[in-house]
Amino acid sequence: MIGSLMIRTATVLLVVGMIWGIEMGIRQSFSLAPAHAHLNLVGGVLLFAFGLYYRLVPAAGQSALARWQGWLHIAGAILFPVGVAVVIAKGEAFIVLPIIGSLVVLTATALFALIVFRTSRA
Ligand code: HEM
Repeated sequence: MIGSLMIRTATVLLVVGMIWGIEMGIRQSFSLAPAHAHLNLVGGVLLFAFGLYYRLVPAAGQSALARWQGWLHIAGAILFPVGVAVVIAKGEAFIVLPIIGSLVVLTATALFALIVFRTSRA
């Protein structure tokens, strides 16, 4: 089920994001903090919360649209922070990476909103 995959992936991304934070602290170099923050928030917190909704409302998590939504969110939650980090480290020439990543996350979130409106009636 896509919800379980999202929850599991979120916990892995959160562990990676926290290790990244500790690594920044050890190096006393915080330039990549925005990338770390977006990995933890989009890849950890949001992915976990969206996956949890699919577990709480099984009908919502069983559609093909939900599978698309989950995979898109996972892809965007990795591409977006990695893109932010590459731009900070290598320069504006790579700006297309976070632009695509952010649009993928936006699309996934809009799909999630649609799924919630379809399935959250009392
Ligand atoms: C082991 C856990 C974590 C460690 C060691 C850690 C470490 C850090 C460090 C060193 C910074 C940079 C601070 C600075 O610029 O002075 C930072 C920024 C930040 N972290 Fe974490 N962090 C952790 C977990 C998290 C989690 C779980 C979240 C969100 C769910 C998060 C969100 C943020 C945000 C929003 C910022 C500010 C980013 C910015 O200023 O651009 N962090 N973190």
